[in-house]
Amino acid sequence: GGPAADLVRRLTRWADDFPEPGVRFADLTPVFADPDGFRSVVDCLAALVPDADLVAGVDARGFLLGAGVATTLGTGVLAVRKRGKLPPPVITREYQLEYGTAALEVPATGVELTGRRVLLLDDVLATGGTLAAAADLFTSAGAQVVAAAVVLELEGLGGRSRQGDYPVTSIVTV
Ligand code: PRP
Repeated sequence: GGPAADLVRRLTRWADDFPEPGVRFADLTPVFADPDGFRSVVDCLAALVPDADLVAGVDARGFLLGAGVATTLGTGVLAVRKRGKLPPPVITREYQLEYGTAALEVPATGVELTGRRVLLLDDVLATGGTLAAAADLFTSAGAQVVAAAVVLELEGLGGRSRQGDYPVTSIVTV
């Protein structure tokens, strides 16, 4: 329920067979491009952990959410990057894809992570590998993931069951 959920349901763009055959891709671009959509989604996510002291967004659409929520909460924002985008030293967490591996990275210096209370954001929870890897990255760096949240959860792919010991919230579950 709520205005955010209604707008997400109405504005999400679904694409069959993208990025590969058999996959139905949920593109939230129109939700974020809509003024009421972006504002209501950001407000919804910011209400989850009002005392988080760092907001982290996962490459790439999570960056948009992270920036909006961090501004609302008055925290900084940390971009969790895909492999190879950040200069060393970095903290890396690999995760399994259907074919091969991917990795997420954050800087190993310059951002103190020990003891931080991190609100972790991404646009979509599908198989859950991405979100779990991002959470592991923060935990291994000594931070506490106080919550993970996504705009859209694709329930049939079981991503929630792959998550660790942190609450996972989604605005819309399909
Ligand atoms: C999508 C989405 C999540 C991830 C979810 O990103 O934005 O980050 O997949 O999938 P999972 O739960 O199965 O791990 P994508 O890999 O398409 O990258 P992009 O955001 O850079 O387009």
